[in-house]
Amino acid sequence: MAESMKGLHRTHRCTEVSHGNIGQTVTVMGWVQKRRNLGSLIFIDLRDRSGLLQIVFDEPKVGKEGFAKAETLRSEFVVAVTGTIEKRSAAVNEHLKTGDIEVIASDIRILSESETPPFPIEENSQTKDDLRLRYRYLDLRRPDIQRNLMMKSKVAMLLRSFMAQEGFLEIETPILTKSTPEGARDYLVPSRVHPGTFYALPQSPQLFKQLLMCSGYDRYFQIARCFRDEDLRADRQPEFTQADMELSFVDVDDVIDVNERLLQYVFKEAAGVEISLPIQRMTWQEAMDRFGSDKPDTRFGMELVNVSETVAGCGFGVFTGALEQGGSVRGINAKGQGSMPRKKIDKLVEFAKGYGAKGLAYLAVNEDGSYKSSFAKFMTEEQLQALAQRMQGEPGDLLLFAADKNKVVWDVLGALRLELARQLELIDKNQYHFLWITEFPLLEWSEEENRFMAMHHPFTMPMEEDWDKIDTDPGAVRAKAYDIVLNGTELGGGSVRIHQDDIQEKMLEVLGFTKESAYEQFGFLLNAFKYGVPPHAGLAYGLDRMIMLMMHCDSIRDVIAFPKVKDASCLMTDAPNVVDEKQLEELALSVEALQEKEQ
Ligand code: AMO
Ligand code: AMP
Repeated sequence: MAESMKGLHRTHRCTEVSHGNIGQTVTVMGWVQKRRNLGSLIFIDLRDRSGLLQIVFDEPKVGKEGFAKAETLRSEFVVAVTGTIEKRSAAVNEHLKTGDIEVIASDIRILSESETPPFPIEENSQTKDDLRLRYRYLDLRRPDIQRNLMMKSKVAMLLRSFMAQEGFLEIETPILTKSTPEGARDYLVPSRVHPGTFYALPQSPQLFKQLLMCSGYDRYFQIARCFRDEDLRADRQPEFTQADMELSFVDVDDVIDVNERLLQYVFKEAAGVEISLPIQRMTWQEAMDRFGSDKPDTRFGMELVNVSETVAGCGFGVFTGALEQGGSVRGINAKGQGSMPRKKIDKLVEFAKGYGAKGLAYLAVNEDGSYKSSFAKFMTEEQLQALAQRMQGEPGDLLLFAADKNKVVWDVLGALRLELARQLELIDKNQYHFLWITEFPLLEWSEEENRFMAMHHPFTMPMEEDWDKIDTDPGAVRAKAYDIVLNGTELGGGSVRIHQDDIQEKMLEVLGFTKESAYEQFGFLLNAFKYGVPPHAGLAYGLDRMIMLMMHCDSIRDVIAFPKVKDASCLMTDAPNVVDEKQLEELALSVEALQEKEQ
């Protein structure tokens, strides 16, 4: 039967005791990791969130009753043990923090028994994700997940302390709110009081933090939950946490400055990672040209090379055709991969097609200087030589080319570069490469909507020197927007905001809003700006992503206590789920149409 805590106090966590405590009496509590019977002795490894500690039960010391209890222990029983710390009698376990000591038990209470868990609670679990997530409360007992969540807590504390020192105020913004224009689909919550109307869960605190600037709070900070109904990926969850900030009376460099110091402080204190400042900056254009990505992984080279000029006028229709259409031809050099088997190259071609390529042309430079190529027959020897030279292709290299619209070429080669780095193990996982990407395009053409969309959001300030192009060449206007990238992942992003009526009005017009529709959607912000608004700017980090990168996790799920799976459901609670007819009635909602559809 489960015993109580009456009169009992924990003195230490399992790994808070060490050699220095030898001879002391301690009381530790936790879960039984495993039990071993060795003749007249029973050993258990006791586990709590700090780690493992070996307990020894010896009948003369723990008493007949205590020994009998110890004999019943099984994995995941919760126990309290009082005893003396002693130097280990048997072999020292170098893998354990407490590997040279053990507790000789003098008393034990069984606080709770456990059924056999559906999978062993252990580091680097081999258990299928689905099962682990269904029993997430057990999965969360595993040391690797516990380390991640403890790190997240630590980072949140460090962020708060840094922000407080820098004069930021932590202010909460609503969760039941109106749609924010961040570009993803909203999660909606029906209103009972106003039937037929809906709150939207915030995709970010964007508009509220701008209003706080209007209200004079000049430096705002929040660890904010955000909700986005978008396709999930390894680094995306439908609800996630931002470390969000906004500052008044600042420009790009001020935001970058405070954030560089923040990153330096947090990474040093939390993970012992030294970041030397300033962090490298690269314009969006340069990032696309060199890496085919606005979040380049700069831990390895294999940069893109634009060979459009070199192949102009050659006999290969795929190349010249792309150029005639206003596109480009670019390549990457997979050093030393010239003898890659045809089958493997074909796989790369298929990979490229997955990113929108119509094909992938290759040129292998043989050891004798001759070429093996998918397009050699369309080019003269001189043309091939010039191309290889432009690519710095040496004997033994494999040159891969994509020809298409710039966007497709960048996407394809950017992804191929990462894939090759993965296959060829070019990435040193212990490096942290931070990079600012600046001067993003203000607008992005949407084929789907047949109009320009804001690349960041509609309140992002254009660069002064480009504003005169807003009517003639809107796509060429750059924005005062910046992202912070770490090892090829977008860690955070932000911008200077528009605080001038005329620019804001024009921007909304370009985005296809009428005055009425703009006021309908965010009139409260536009109105607020009529009453004295300071120039302001901000940034938000994905906190989950930050921890994911710090802890080298493959999935964002490993840093979120209760995550959702790919279809946005929670396997443990079975959310989302049906609700009572009565609840629907109160909300004036009906799911009849859906039921009919399903029949
Ligand atoms: P943005 O949309 O770039 O900017 O979001 C900021 C950061 O939040 C993280 N993030 C996510 N993390 C996990 N799951 C998701 N679904 C997800 N979506 C975004 C990313 C991203 O860099 N209001 C602006 C910020 C600003 O301008 O100040 C915003 O939300 O790490
Ligand atoms: P094809 O003439 O279509 O047989 O293509 C000849 C070679 O060019 C093949 O290796 C194709 O994979 C490659 N290729 C086709 N389209 C493209 C493209 N848009 N960019 C790069 N290579 C391509």
